[in-house]
Amino acid sequence: MSEILNTPVNICVIGSGYVGLVAAVCFAETGHHVVCVDNDEQKVASLCQGKVPIYEKHLDDLLAKHLNKGVHFTTGLHDAVERSEAVFIAVGTPQSSTGSADLSFVEAVVSEIARGINSYKVIVEKSTVPVYTHAWIRRVLSRYGIQDHLFDVVSNPEFLREGTAVVDFLHPDRIVVGAETPKAAEVLGRIYAPLTSGEYYSRPNAIAGPLNVKSPAPILVTSPQSAEIIKHASNSFLALKISFINVVSTICESVGADVDDVAKGMGLDARIGSRFLSAGIGYGGSCFPKDLTAFHNVAQQQGIDFKLLTEVERINEQQKRHFFQKIHSTLWTLRGKKIAALGLAFKGETDDIRDSPGIDIIKMLLEAGSKVSAYDPAAMERSREVLPEEGQLQYVQDEYAAAKGADALLILTHWPQFAKLDLERLKGLLKFPIIIDGRNLYDYKEMHDKGFTYVSVGRPASHSGLETIPRANFV
Ligand code: UDX
Repeated sequence: MSEILNTPVNICVIGSGYVGLVAAVCFAETGHHVVCVDNDEQKVASLCQGKVPIYEKHLDDLLAKHLNKGVHFTTGLHDAVERSEAVFIAVGTPQSSTGSADLSFVEAVVSEIARGINSYKVIVEKSTVPVYTHAWIRRVLSRYGIQDHLFDVVSNPEFLREGTAVVDFLHPDRIVVGAETPKAAEVLGRIYAPLTSGEYYSRPNAIAGPLNVKSPAPILVTSPQSAEIIKHASNSFLALKISFINVVSTICESVGADVDDVAKGMGLDARIGSRFLSAGIGYGGSCFPKDLTAFHNVAQQQGIDFKLLTEVERINEQQKRHFFQKIHSTLWTLRGKKIAALGLAFKGETDDIRDSPGIDIIKMLLEAGSKVSAYDPAAMERSREVLPEEGQLQYVQDEYAAAKGADALLILTHWPQFAKLDLERLKGLLKFPIIIDGRNLYDYKEMHDKGFTYVSVGRPASHSGLETIPRANFV
């Protein structure tokens, strides 16, 4: 048995983006022989030198540990496919102009894979794709003359969160394998055996996380179309939870309730669960917005009315405007005011700014004529590419430089360090002690006692030295 658990599988991962790179390095960490292919020569050259292009905990160390041992990088797809038993497709599936997923990269890769099939291979979709993509992959391979007995197609969606992707990969809530045949399921079973048997967690140098030998990773084997839907439905449901609590937060504001208490009270019901019920300024990132639209498209193509998903999106947009309105009504007028903005990444512990709600709010402030001094621990370089520094917008080296002379300080991203600010120092730097917190990082009663005007999401606002003036007077 233990021999089976430790049998290395020859794996090819196509695409060294977020998902591909994490998967390739983590497969090597669990003991497999991995070749990771990308057509970007520069990227491959840099990976061959051990340079990690993304901000992801543990990834640098694991790459250094396995580079040129368990994992190799190359631009040569054909050879890599020939040598592998399983070929994971992890290329981008960007949103097309119609909102559906653009699968042209997937199709191009499948055509290339066809040329390297010299013996039985399992072709695995790892990219997030709409239902029935597995059937298209099969059809393309057949069109290239590949006989049915030489391949199976499997859907094995990833559920990695940015910033914690390595731990998510090695300690998954579940591994979903959508396999067409028992033979293909068996190959995936071997690949994930170190995690599903718990063997990985008994190793002295295993990356620590929630799972252990006694409680290893669960694996769910389904049909490929069920696996494809599990991915889209999971992300859409999580986005729905966030939009739901965000509307509840607005009701809380109106009636003087505290959304954090409400979320806690709801979350203690095991049927609801406490996670993804943090009210804020809306979700962002490379997955939720794109996957929600793509899933809505899937439903539409089947003639099914899934307006709930459009509503989730609408609420998400509304939540950003609502926060902007909060800034407006706290400061009365915005033109010419200096605002300190903490957080540019779409969430903490990442440098990713794709669909970042914080960036959208900064754009609204700039349009309203405010001056913004922005700081983020990791995402400033990327932000400069979409929001270049100019007269109205400045990037600064830390939270305190941002606060200097500002009319108010905004918290836009949930970075742990933003929850531990030196409040006395801030008070001395800000023009007025006003903090508008889009991530509820502080206790509002304490902030009031410390003399701040503190406005957060779905909780009573405290106005220091000011009487609360009805919002309607300001907007
Ligand atoms: C998400 C999924 O969680 C992951 O399973 C999938 O593979 C990729 O998409 P990610 O985009 O990295 O992961 O971020 P996640 O941690 O899920 O957060 C998404 C957004 O929701 C962020 O903008 C975050 O700030 C926001 N969020 C999250 C909330 O506003 N409230 C919450 O309670 C949780």
